[in-house]
Amino acid sequence: MIIAIDGPAASGKGTLSRRLAEHFELRHLDTGLTYRAVAAALLAKGMPLGDEAIAIEIARNLDLGHMDKSLLSAHEIGEVASRVAVLGGLREELVRLQREFANKPPGAVLDGRDIGTVVCQNAEVKLFVTASSEARAHRRTDEMRSKGIEAEFADVLEDLKRRDLRDSQRTIAPMKQAEDAHLLDTTEMDIETAFQAAVDIISKAR
Ligand code: C5P
Repeated sequence: MIIAIDGPAASGKGTLSRRLAEHFELRHLDTGLTYRAVAAALLAKGMPLGDEAIAIEIARNLDLGHMDKSLLSAHEIGEVASRVAVLGGLREELVRLQREFANKPPGAVLDGRDIGTVVCQNAEVKLFVTASSEARAHRRTDEMRSKGIEAEFADVLEDLKRRDLRDSQRTIAPMKQAEDAHLLDTTEMDIETAFQAAVDIISKAR
């Protein structure tokens, strides 16, 4: 079984996907980490973000089992990841890796921006998880402050809006709700309520 979860930054889809994978005993891949890992490696090598040949080379050597989330979770890496994510050749390489992961038994939960529309079009269940930009910016600001990182709500909101716009307006694999995806708006939900709503949708659809 494959569960595809898409949605904008800080919508709660990451936590939700992790918990759904545990609940349904499936493997989990946060595909955003694959874009973040390539972005971080380009930065570390001091290479220009538009150098697609190097980006593809980095992607070919990625080990999905050993991406260090703690090193990749910085807000700024997300911004850089969204700039390299417009490269079509790089996306092809990452999508190949992501599909390989998805197709191994017993199946998997994948979360990202184009899982339901591109990576796993045949997923048994698709969710598009969203929330108002203000709710998402509040969550992201709280999360950063809880890690001791200084964060201003207005700056975080502006960053999220800019990233959503870039992700939804790019030509290749833009973020959008698949026609057969269930919409889950978590603006008024805490994580527990969102999790229960997702379990209900998935249990009915299986
Ligand atoms: O989800 P996360 O914030 O970690 O993703 C970082 C960036 O990677 C996104 O803003 C998006 O540009 C890109 N991405 C993508 N397709 C995916 C997952 C992430 O383009 N499936």
